[in-house]
Amino acid sequence: MAMTTLPERVRKDFPILDREVHGKPLVYLDNAASAQKPLAVIEGQREYLANYHANIHRGAHHLAQLATEAYEGGRSKIAAHINASGTEEIIFTAGSTDAINLVAQAWGRANLTSGDTVLVTRMEHHANIVPWQMVCAEKGAQVVPVNVLEDGTLDLDDYRRALEQHQPKLVGFVHASNTLGTINPVSELTALAKKAGAVTLIDGSQAVPHLAIDVQAIGCDFYVGTGHKAYGPTGIGFLFGRREILEAMPPWRGGGEMIKRVSFDGTTYNGLPHKFEAGTPHISGGIALGIAIDWINGVGVEAITAHETALVQHAHAALGTLPGLRIIGTATEKVGVVSLVVDGLHPYDLGTLLDGQGFAVRTGHHCTEPLMDHLGLESGTLRMSFAAYTTREEIDRAVIALERAINMLR
Ligand code: ALA
Repeated sequence: MAMTTLPERVRKDFPILDREVHGKPLVYLDNAASAQKPLAVIEGQREYLANYHANIHRGAHHLAQLATEAYEGGRSKIAAHINASGTEEIIFTAGSTDAINLVAQAWGRANLTSGDTVLVTRMEHHANIVPWQMVCAEKGAQVVPVNVLEDGTLDLDDYRRALEQHQPKLVGFVHASNTLGTINPVSELTALAKKAGAVTLIDGSQAVPHLAIDVQAIGCDFYVGTGHKAYGPTGIGFLFGRREILEAMPPWRGGGEMIKRVSFDGTTYNGLPHKFEAGTPHISGGIALGIAIDWINGVGVEAITAHETALVQHAHAALGTLPGLRIIGTATEKVGVVSLVVDGLHPYDLGTLLDGQGFAVRTGHHCTEPLMDHLGLESGTLRMSFAAYTTREEIDRAVIALERAINMLR
């Protein structure tokens, strides 16, 4: 009897996969921009809004207790999923961008001074560059990039050299690149940064839906993730921070919830994690992110990693048959992201022709403009990105559709 493949098992969970686009069956290959949502997430969010909506941590009444338990349950699931040592190390944020801004504004403003360096890599998403540029401009500090090699891996020699030369206060790097797919050797990068005396921040936006994560084994100080790339809703994400570093950090946003006592003679702040969570949060988002994590674990993160690794290998081989096509990012260790360019053709034109055939891909610089500049790719790339529900057959069809688009434009 034939074995059931992972997509066969999980596709039924995603109602959107049955729809058509422009009269053609949808083939959704834009998961690095945002993954689709399983029914459990959709229903879980609806269930909260329909049956037990109330504000959290405040009311003595039954609904407030139910909502608080479910929201805090989401936090516990995140903590367990990335092996934080406790829930107080998980701050709910609006996403990864918000989480990095929190660290830049709270930790950065308290710790960076004139002449300091923040080291990042040239493969960072804008979200791990611009918040640092903003706080560094204010403090007279600088942001220095580490080089990326031709195959889309990090230049480890340049990394070691930059650590020694700049003695950075903080080092930030992506766990997995949203543009190249490259999985960085995060434990090694963290160990080297720590040895150089730097605080470490890992942008795990593209890792949470694809890889097993253990922040204690990695040894990082901060790790951020976003819900919508991990089968959860938009507008919700998290910041993991080691307890000691979070305790030493001043709060960023002020308001309700983040305080212990407020008076005009002076205000005292709440304990972790609430010190960093001012105002009424995205309650349904926190609940649904927990459900999304349950969904990932139900499927099995190792099974997802193995499936996506096989898809990348398959896509590389199949795309390699198209003349004039070049894959951007050929690292051995990759998540399910395949960026490509075709000689003489604009990625946007190809993406538009693919859309007309029902294929959703992303084109452009993918919020990594410095990387595109570094690689000399002025018009960016066309990117196909995969999820647990992506099939080999969809990739084969995408390759045929791409060939058709190339022929139309030539
Ligand atoms: N950062 C997202 C992407 O890679 C939006 O497309």
